[in-house]
Amino acid sequence: MKAVVFFSGKFGSTKKYAYWINERTGFPVYDINKEKPDPSKYDLIVLGSSIIASKPTIQKWLKAHWPVIENKQVLLFTVSGTEPGHPDLQKWLTDSLSQSILEKVHYVPLRGRLVLQELPWWIRLMMKVASRTEKDPQIKKRMAEGFDYMDKSSIDPILKWIDDTVEEEHLELGESQLVW
Ligand SMILES: Cc1cc2nc3c(=O)[nH]c(=O)nc-3n(C[C@H](O)[C@H](O)[C@H](O)COP(=O)(O)O)c2cc1C
Repeated sequence: MKAVVFFSGKFGSTKKYAYWINERTGFPVYDINKEKPDPSKYDLIVLGSSIIASKPTIQKWLKAHWPVIENKQVLLFTVSGTEPGHPDLQKWLTDSLSQSILEKVHYVPLRGRLVLQELPWWIRLMMKVASRTEKDPQIKKRMAEGFDYMDKSSIDPILKWIDDTVEEEHLELGESQLVW
């Protein structure tokens, strides 16, 4: 069987998680905004997506490719400022992806990073303006000061799902895809 990591990110944190998964599994990684890999070649697909303006950035790609991947083993991880378990995250996913996608993919929310100094000036300005009217004090602080919640151990549930899926489905990994 063949496994892969596809990601869609804007500022580097989703990419970092994708490569941490690659380090532990050997699965190849593709940035779907730069390359056009063929998802039909794979049996197990890990999808990574940042959340920008209340939407997973992989939304368009996932909807377009869903007919090809819906019968495969698919995990979706999102990377956001909002913490896992927060109802907003669930709402953003429900609003952006169809019920059939949400029912079939295994979902793992992760937290990312935002370094204001690394953003283009106009996004920084937008954040500053938005932070003034934001009512939630935690979100306001994150927008005004940035944050860094990147943590290698937070990929553990993804590694566990891969492990369990490979075992349950009796999938045999190719030689280049060694699971830790
Ligand atoms: C313009 C912009 C909008 C964002 N919107 C949201 C949002 O709606 N909800 C949220 O939880 N995080 C939001 N974030 C935080 C990002 O999800 C977080 O920084 C994430 O790590 C970005 O992933 P990336 O580095 O792979 O692009 C936003 C960040 C930026 C720069």
